[in-house]
Amino acid sequence: MQRISSWWKWPPEGGNRGGSIGASLLEPVERSPVPAMKAHDESMSAADYSRLCGLIYDEAGIHLNAEKKTMLEARIRRRLKALSIASFSEYCATLFGRNGIKDEIPHLIDVVTTNKTDFFREPKHFDFLTAKALPDLIARNRLGRPLLIWSAGCSTGEEPYTLAMVMSEYAEKHPGFRFRILATDVSTTVLAKADRGVYTNDVVAPVPAALKLKYLLRSRDRSSEQVRISPELRRLVEFRHLNFMDSDYGMAEKADAIFCRNVIIYFDRPTQERILGRLADHVLPGGYMFVGHSETLHDMHLPLAPVAPALYRRLEGNGR
Ligand SMILES: C[S@@+](CC[C@H](N)C(=O)[O-])C[C@H]1O[C@@H](n2cnc3c(N)ncnc32)[C@H](O)[C@@H]1O
Repeated sequence: MQRISSWWKWPPEGGNRGGSIGASLLEPVERSPVPAMKAHDESMSAADYSRLCGLIYDEAGIHLNAEKKTMLEARIRRRLKALSIASFSEYCATLFGRNGIKDEIPHLIDVVTTNKTDFFREPKHFDFLTAKALPDLIARNRLGRPLLIWSAGCSTGEEPYTLAMVMSEYAEKHPGFRFRILATDVSTTVLAKADRGVYTNDVVAPVPAALKLKYLLRSRDRSSEQVRISPELRRLVEFRHLNFMDSDYGMAEKADAIFCRNVIIYFDRPTQERILGRLADHVLPGGYMFVGHSETLHDMHLPLAPVAPALYRRLEGNGR
């Protein structure tokens, strides 16, 4: 892991002070050896596509329709290359063979999940959080325990780190306010990247300049495009593997708010309703559920009441 001393406050103070990020730190989170190329030009049979879709649906809840076949082929081709497997049929034979699913499923999940995210994505949610939700949650929190905010489907960490910045700013203005952020995802690759907290300049572009100064570190190497989340901010976020399809989420306590944004869009409607129902059971009464702006809970039987676009509140009872 990168030593903190190799990173400078943003922007770099003075010139290049001689240090530089070790070459290994510039490597991608995961780098598989690239075996000799084989021909993977043929398309996947309808039977293999159907088996794979069934497995992906059962394991991750992700629904792929017939139009996604080309996308899945393109993504699995990279796995074929990494594994030196010549064809989709051989891949499926291995996958559905003895121990194949257990060994390959984490990779298959990495392949099929869409991890697009941004710092300060859908920024109105963060305005609402500080202007309305936090004062309200603090008022309800008579025991004065730290608030728990859960970024469910956190991808590479931009959402939980945005929450950490916004809530740290709030805490600065409200002495005594304490919080924790839990960030979970089904993909181990995105979690590793999130935990490392290293991004490029273009990725952190949406972060306001004043927050960059406080919470981002630049590499000692002035030519590097990389920045790192400060250790103080990283300490505020706990990353954990969690698949919404698991029978038990292993949550010891309920959250004051859940951000589950741009995640259920990949599920079919029955799965959306089931997962949201389970998430709602992990929110304290009166707590908040933030979803993506293209996601609607219309006509779902959930203990959640609409508050604002893409924002719901946990009802006191089970509401179903
Ligand atoms: C498009 S990203 C959204 C990231 C962030 N919430 C945002 O709005 O920017 C969707 C994330 O959901 C995760 N995901 C998909 N299926 C999941 C499942 N069954 N359990 C947990 N996370 C899942 C994916 O791995 C991916 O990182």
